[in-house]
Amino acid sequence: MPSRTPRLRAVTKAVIPAAGLGTRFLPATKATPKEMLPIVDKPAIQYVVEEARAANLTDVLMITGRNKRALEDHFDRNYELEETLIRKGDDARLARVRESSELASPHYVRQRDPKGLGHAVLCAEPHVGDQPFAVLLGDDLIDPRDPLLSRMIEVQERFGGSVIALMEVDPAQIHLYGCAAIEATADEDVVRVTGLVEKPEPGEAPSAYAIIGRYVLDPAVFEAIKKTPPGRGGEIQLTDALQELTHRENDGGPVHGVVFTGRRYDTGDRGDYLRAIVRLACERDDLGPDFRAWLRDFTTAELNGSPSDM
Ligand code: UTP
Repeated sequence: MPSRTPRLRAVTKAVIPAAGLGTRFLPATKATPKEMLPIVDKPAIQYVVEEARAANLTDVLMITGRNKRALEDHFDRNYELEETLIRKGDDARLARVRESSELASPHYVRQRDPKGLGHAVLCAEPHVGDQPFAVLLGDDLIDPRDPLLSRMIEVQERFGGSVIALMEVDPAQIHLYGCAAIEATADEDVVRVTGLVEKPEPGEAPSAYAIIGRYVLDPAVFEAIKKTPPGRGGEIQLTDALQELTHRENDGGPVHGVVFTGRRYDTGDRGDYLRAIVRLACERDDLGPDFRAWLRDFTTAELNGSPSDM
């Protein structure tokens, strides 16, 4: 694969779509964005913003929907609460409360109708301008010990065009994801993407490589989205717009994929949400020892079929 001239346009902007309806999590998401649901004691979206900052993306834009108040408040100061904690001398909690407001002061743009992820990304066009940018889905958690975004930025700087994150899944599950047709490259974790299809019919998937919620995109994607008609579920699909870019050698293409093998949770899915909480709680110094002991007893009781009132 020919290596391209590195681009001088650095990736500094992160776009975080958080305007979906979150129907899989109703009724919890009736009045609260699913990105605000707590993973142990932090909302999912805070982990995502922390990930953006860890990859040196200093400019964060959130695409919000009808319940945006909670998101804005979370990343803002709360002077009343801070004053109360100061009076109580509760420095530990004070630091935790301030963490999110010191992390970033995001920009916000409203997606008036949740017409799909492609449409949400298009809402970022005026803010992003003519620079490659990262997209991090606000309900997708990547374990900070398995950095993915910095590798994707590196790949984008090397090859230009656009980069998506892929994960090999059970072929029986691929119909739940966007799926990529791929060709190997000289780098074990990098593939050339030759085609994309959103939620393929069982038996029609070109591979078992699923698109997960991280992207580094060339701004040419905006024009591609504008030309993309509604697809699966009547929504404007980002996958369909990116499919168009897979055919290009410039102007948004080529599209490469970074194959991720680390820990990732789709917190918009109830099962994955529970797994994320259990795993992260087990690993916490403050909660882990007690919680692990309880979990061990609980699972032993379950395995023995003994009714558990623990
Ligand atoms: P999902 O595909 O999980 O859709 O969105 P959803 O509507 O949020 O959730 P369900 O399927 O009804 O439970 C993936 C990401 O794209 C954002 C979501 O907020 C989530 O971060 N999104 C989706 C938007 O910002 N706007 C949209 O119109 C659709």
